Parts: sequence; structure tokens; C-alpha cells
Amino acid sequence: MKLKHLLLCCLFAAVGCTTATTTPDNEIDRKVEELLAQMTLREKIGQMNQVSGGANLCDWAASGDLGSILNCVDPAEINAVQRAAVEQSRLGIPVLVSRDVIHGFRTIFPIPLGMAATFDPAVVEQGARIAAVEATASGVRWTFSPMLDIARDPRWGRVAEGSGEDTYLDVQMGVAMVKGYQGDDYADPTSMAACVKHFVGYGAAEGGRDYNTTMISERALRNVYFPAFKACIDAGALTLMTSFNDVDGLPSTGNSWLLDDILRKEWGFDGMVVTDWNSAGEMIAHGYAEDLKHSAELAVNAGVDMDMMSFGFIEHIEELINEGKIEMQTIDNAVRNILRLKFRLGLFENPYVDEAKAREKVYAPEHLEAAKQCAVESAILLQNNNNVLPLTDAKRILVTGPMANAQFDQLGTWAFDGEEAYTVTPLMALRDDYDVVYEPGLTYSRDTNKAGIPAAVRAAAGVDAVVVCVGEEAILSGEAHCLSQLNLQGAQSELIAELNKTGKPIVVVVIAGRPLTIERDLAECDAMLYSFHPGTMGGEAIADLITGRAVPSGKTPMTFLRDAGQAPFYYNHPMTGRPNNGTETLLNDIPLKAGQTSLGCTSYYLDTGYGPLFPFGYGLSYTTFDYSCITIDKTEYTEGDVIVVEYDLTNSGKVDATEVAQLYVRDLVGSVVRPVKELKGFERVYLKAGETKHCRFELPVAELAFWNRDMEYVVEPGKFQLWVAGDSASGEALAFEVK
Ligand code: BGC
Repeated sequence: MKLKHLLLCCLFAAVGCTTATTTPDNEIDRKVEELLAQMTLREKIGQMNQVSGGANLCDWAASGDLGSILNCVDPAEINAVQRAAVEQSRLGIPVLVSRDVIHGFRTIFPIPLGMAATFDPAVVEQGARIAAVEATASGVRWTFSPMLDIARDPRWGRVAEGSGEDTYLDVQMGVAMVKGYQGDDYADPTSMAACVKHFVGYGAAEGGRDYNTTMISERALRNVYFPAFKACIDAGALTLMTSFNDVDGLPSTGNSWLLDDILRKEWGFDGMVVTDWNSAGEMIAHGYAEDLKHSAELAVNAGVDMDMMSFGFIEHIEELINEGKIEMQTIDNAVRNILRLKFRLGLFENPYVDEAKAREKVYAPEHLEAAKQCAVESAILLQNNNNVLPLTDAKRILVTGPMANAQFDQLGTWAFDGEEAYTVTPLMALRDDYDVVYEPGLTYSRDTNKAGIPAAVRAAAGVDAVVVCVGEEAILSGEAHCLSQLNLQGAQSELIAELNKTGKPIVVVVIAGRPLTIERDLAECDAMLYSFHPGTMGGEAIADLITGRAVPSGKTPMTFLRDAGQAPFYYNHPMTGRPNNGTETLLNDIPLKAGQTSLGCTSYYLDTGYGPLFPFGYGLSYTTFDYSCITIDKTEYTEGDVIVVEYDLTNSGKVDATEVAQLYVRDLVGSVVRPVKELKGFERVYLKAGETKHCRFELPVAELAFWNRDMEYVVEPGKFQLWVAGDSASGEALAFEVK
């Protein structure tokens, strides 16, 4: 017998409460209807139109043809546009001011992939709150974040903007950001509406090439790509953005199954749907719409409320209504969603921002401290031969490499409003701790001019240790910045290798927007610390980790590949019929004229083998952790049970540190092929040196549910395995059964 569970009450039950507003929903709905009744068709269409800064926004606003603006962050300009809307347009409806506040407004936090590496939803929520406090002070009340796109191919530049490859981690991080942005009360002037994006499947772009087509089954959408959207909506996310891509031939912006059947009817979303930038218009290039008018018809009828920058709505909806191609009721519903949002945010009561106070809170000491804490927690220690790190005995060090003093680039992608002058680089911070010799070696990450390398090598002669900061400039990741090769760019690998010849302890710090293929560089250094573009306080965080004032605790939110040719590669893939069993015959070991089946016929590459460079969830510390006495309370469970997993975690080294303990499960037999492992829980556990803590995970049986062969969300009875470990590739399996 199957155990059926209602979607609403299981997988996401644990992820928290909904943000509220001081004005009750029925009161807001009354106001919406009252206003709607006074609106002309043109005014309704105006609300559905979003225009970017640079255009003459005051004219747009005064005419009533404008519902929202983006890319305008000057509070005086925002107030001017708002005055035009409120004081000059016929009905005085305020505009909604939006911006891509993706990982901080002025105080820049690590890129979202780095935030995910913290496995710390609390620090991520705090970061989002700070972003909201800083952005709303300039008048921005709506951010296009969080990006929830599951990304399993590091060639895709936008892996930087999401939480990586895992659905469970994506849910936790997404919900944390929504709560942080929106606060406890939508109408609070420091609350900023979140926008979950890009709905849906955008991260599955074929070949990791941005905007490319995707082919995702409904089951995979439901099991892998939908959960974070659903969880964030349950947590109160106010808006959603459609994606550029098509899924199975249907561009999301014109897909009524996604926007109406799933989002509205199945999930009960009463927020607002916006297109991505011209994604309605781009349905023409897709070959899905004939022209701009047709694209507007498709988008509106699919369930889009607001058009970002195609201008198809403002230009053609009137005509489409007159021709009977769009129903008036469809427009009314879209406008209801927009007005509801504006009322919820309290824009009618507080349309203006206090220009004098716009910068009062930016870079506040507590904001910088939180950004630093997040950067500390997000750095991942990938290698530490002979415990070279922390550099406690070194007095004089060489700091080198193109990312050592890259104030602009360490902010990463989508740091529109972060100001480079406020950035603390590793070079700046390390100068407080060591006698620093600085010789960059290369001037920027793509630099192929090796002329500076000999000077760096010479400088190494007189120091106790070398810190080489390499990686990617900000422009090499993010939207439309994809790569087919993922090795360090330019002559960075040569710089590391030349320095290694000096025999000095070599510490490599990688500052990048994605997991790069750094296997050859690992062989040329003693220690490697990986920091996804760490933001404003990145340098201080890195200095804290290098000196040992802080201890690394970040874990990989994506699998690290040995070679880009392994992509897409993710730990929780469905089981193959011929899994690799650990015996791989690699290229150079194949005898001449080997028989066709002599290599074993399992799933691996002849050149790179099977495994990744580092698995999901991996990261070292300056101490060691031992997991022991792992037990589950029963061997058989039924519906409604909670599986109690207990374990002892020991800090068996010499420094106090935090470990991210992870809980994985495998469903051994399913009505459809199940993933080899799935993350079901994690916890950051702080332990003093030598301390043992008795810890536990509680896993409701309901959270073993998945969308099965009959497309029902169920827990299928049967045998399961469970692991508690420090990464996705370690630990001993425990068995249990669901009856
Ligand atoms: C991106 C979105 C972003 C929007 C507005 C688009 O190009 O795909 O993620 O929010 O621009 O800037």
C-alpha cells in the first residue's frame, strides 16, 4: 500500500512561516476592487508595464502608463518618478521600484553560490535582511532574488547566482533569502518583495550555454526544479519571474501549464508574475510567437501579470482585447495581482523615500561584520597538506596573483550597487597580520603575459610562505558568461607552478564565480582555499582564515569536476544499470587490441575515470571530525513516523571548529529510478577541540515522498539507506524500511 501525502503538508512543512502584513488580506482585497473599478483599460495596462531607468520615467509615470521601474537607485530620481505617478497620474497609483539586489546592495555579501557553501540559512537570511535595509533606504522595494535555478553544469555562468546542484539546499537557502528580504511585515518600509526566479528549468540549459533549450520531464520538474519555488511561495514570496528558456518546446513566458495550472491552481500563488527582461518579446526569436502582438497575447493568456521591457503589453493589449483575443477578466486578474502587491507593501501609504537617510545605514559596521562572517563561513578548504594552514609561524609572506588586490572583481557578478572603493582585498587585510611583500605576477585573471612571473618568483626567495590569489574576474561568470573550459584562465596555473618550484609553502586562494577544474593546480600547492567571489569583506575573511583567527567550515554546494567534459555531474543522479564499481581502466592502461568488452562496461570516462575532483558537501577544516555511534531509533517505520537519527560528533583535532554534518538517504527500489543519494538534512555543529557532542536529526517519513510513476507525491514503502557524514561521498550506510 502506498502512503499518500498532501503536497502542502509534507516536504516543506519544516521550512517556516509566512510573512504577514499589518493590513489583513480581505481589507487589501477590498481596496484592490475599489481601485480596479475606477480604472480605464489603458490604466490597467499601464500597471502591467515595467520600464528600465534611462527612459523618461517621469513622463511614463505621469501618463499612467507605468506600473514599475527597474534599474534606478538614485533616491531623488525615484522620488521624482513617484511624485509623477502619485501627483500627476489620474489615479495616483505609486510605481513599484525594483532592482537586482542579488547578494547585497552596497555591502556586498558572497555571491549566492558562496552563501550556499555556508550551509547556514541563518547567515544567509541575515544577509538578505541587510540587503533589504540598505536597498529600501534608497527606495527599492522589490528585488529580483532569490534565483532558485538548480545548476549542475559549471560551464553555465549563472551557477554563481544560485545555490548549486541540490534541491534540499536550494529550498533552505531560498526560504532564508525570502524571509530576510521580506522581513516580518510586508508593509514595513525596510521590507523588500522577493522574486523567485527563473521559473523554470533555466539552469538546465543544454551544454551549460546560457539561454539554451532544456528538456526536463514533468517528473524531474516536480522532484528537482519545483520544490524551492513551492517552498519559497509557502514562505510568502510575493513575486515570481518567468525564465527565458523553453522546457520541452514551451517558452516559460507563454506556458499556461506552468503559470496557471501549477502556480496558481496547484500552489495557490496570489502574488505577482513578471517576465524576465523581454522574455515575452523573445518568444518571437524562439519561433513561438509571430510578432510582438502575438507574444503579448501568449504571455498574458498564459498568466503573466507584468511585462519587463518587451513593451508588447503597453502597445498591443488594447487591440488584443478589442479583437477578443484576451478576455477583460484576464487583465483584471493581472492588475489585481499587481495592486495587491502594492497595497501589501504599503506603497500607497508610504510612496516616498527619505533622501537624506539613503546612505545612513549603508556599510554600517554590523553590515560589514555580517558580510565578513558570511564570507568566512563560505570559504572551502580543499587541500591542506602537512597542515600548512593556518600560517601561524610565518612572519614575512609574499602575496601574489591577479585576484590578490582586485577590489572590483572580488565583488562578483550582479554587484551593481556595491562600490569598489569599500572592498577590502586579501592584500589589504593580510598587511595587518604579516610583513607582506606584494608582487602580482599577473595583472588580471585572463592575463597571458608572463613577464611579471619571474619577479614574483624572485620575491618568494625572501619569505616564509606564499599566498597566491587566483581565480576569475567578475565578468567571467554570471548571465551570458559561459565557458566551455574551466581551467584557470591566462597564465595563472604557470604562476602557481613556478612559485611551487621555490620550495616555499604555497597557499592558493581561488576567488571565482564557479567551481573551476583546478586539479593540476592542487598538485602545485600545499593548501587551497576556495572562495566564491566573497564580496566587500572578502579580504578580511580570507585573512582571518589564513592566520587561523577563523577556521574554514564551508562545503561544496556543487560537485567539483576534474574536467569540464564531465559536466553535467551531480551527486544525486538517478542510478544507472551499470554503475561504476571502482574498477576503471584508464587510457594508458588499455592494452593494444583489447577486446571490446574487456574494460568492464561500466559508467565512466576512459580519460578522467568516474569520480569528481571533490564531491558535493565536501570541505576540510583545520581540525578533524569523527562521526561515531550513528543509530536510528527503529528499523521499520510507517506513515506519520519521524526517523530519529543520533550520532556522536567529535572534534579530534587541536582547534575549536564547526562541522557541517549532513544526512543523506537513498530509496533502494522505486516505481521510477531513484537518485543514488539525496540530502535530507544538515546542521552546523560547533565543537571545542577534543569535544564530543551527541547530536540528532529528525526526519519525518513524509519527507521521503517523491513524484512516482503515476505522478503522485507519495512515500513508496520499501528499503532505504541512510548516511550521516561530512560530505556526500563518505560514511557507512544504515538500513531501514518503510512499511
Ligand atoms: C536576468 C534576470 C534579471 C533581469 C533584470 C535578466 O537579464 O535574467 O535575472 O533579474 O535581467 O535585470
